Amino acid sequence: MLVLGIETSCDETAAAVVRDCKELVSSVISSQTDVHKRFGGVVPELASREHLERIEPIVEEAMGRAQVGFDEIDGIAVTVGPGLIGSLLVGLCYAKGLAYALGRPIVGVNHLEGHIYSVVFDNPPVEHPALALIVSGGHTHMFYVPRPGQYKIVARTRDDAAGEAYDKVAKMLGLGYPGGPIIERLAREGDPRAVRFSLPKISDRRPDFSFSGLKTAVSKYVRETGLQPVKEGETPSQAIKDLAASFQDVVIRSLVSTTERVAAEHQPKTLIVAGGVACNMALREAMSAMAERLGIPVYFPSRHLSTDNAAMIAAAGSVKLAAGERAGLDLNADVSLRL
Ligand code: KG4
Ligand code: ZN
Repeated sequence: MLVLGIETSCDETAAAVVRDCKELVSSVISSQTDVHKRFGGVVPELASREHLERIEPIVEEAMGRAQVGFDEIDGIAVTVGPGLIGSLLVGLCYAKGLAYALGRPIVGVNHLEGHIYSVVFDNPPVEHPALALIVSGGHTHMFYVPRPGQYKIVARTRDDAAGEAYDKVAKMLGLGYPGGPIIERLAREGDPRAVRFSLPKISDRRPDFSFSGLKTAVSKYVRETGLQPVKEGETPSQAIKDLAASFQDVVIRSLVSTTERVAAEHQPKTLIVAGGVACNMALREAMSAMAERLGIPVYFPSRHLSTDNAAMIAAAGSVKLAAGERAGLDLNADVSLRL
């Protein structure tokens, strides 16, 4: 079974072809980072316009790389939420038009379920019950997955997502966008014990996350020490590297300790860590060490499938199509779709 996946929920226009639910045939991602960079974050109106221009060539490229004709596609999977409404609608309308023209079935996929499926390509089969942590720019959510397709949210961020905190701190320090990869690189040369930030505390002891207090603490530190943001073309100072390392250390310790607590309670057979922040090697190492302590295997997507892509949408959609699920042409987008 060949499935074409389409993803346009935020600022990546992506298309992919997946065979038999887990074999990646082709994956094309067109990132709009350059368009949004100078605004320090995604501008929704610009994002939809870019998707509109890119969607057709990106789908064509994915099909070309897969070396399959449109008549060989058995179904189409498209992200229907959560995400930016204008962005979602571009992918959805294109996918519906294509499904109608080809006479092929279409299914809608929740973007978060997509991220969970991003691990199917490069890991052994997921054993259930599983515990999935999605850490991205828009989400820091943990789901208990007793069986495929069934999700119970067990932890979420109370305020900012982890990736959002990386992006905001990077902006504060004049480091550019997206902040995650830049902070990770600088942190490698910094001392994580240089600045003592406390771990976020949740007063009611629920296993939730919170990153806005840490962001405020970084901003207060910058103000009080008079640390200057990095100017364009300037090499970041050791003080900036130390701050990056200290910030990242708290983010990772918070993600790992909460995941460890929930994992110890739920005893999953597999741990999944996905989403843009899962690109971070320091996070991968800390999560792997924790999983080893608990004796649970941890699966990460390969790094190019950690950030938004359509392969994960095609994989999640393939399972639905194989189970006979079909959406009508009245399929709609939902910006705050829940899993
Ligand atoms: O999954 P994704 O592409 O989009 C959303 O669904 O949000 O994640 C993007 C987020 C951004 O906030 C970015 O700063 C973060 O993932 N990110 C990282 C790294 N690479 C990307 N965060 C930490 N370390 C990284 N290496
Ligand atoms: Zn995402």
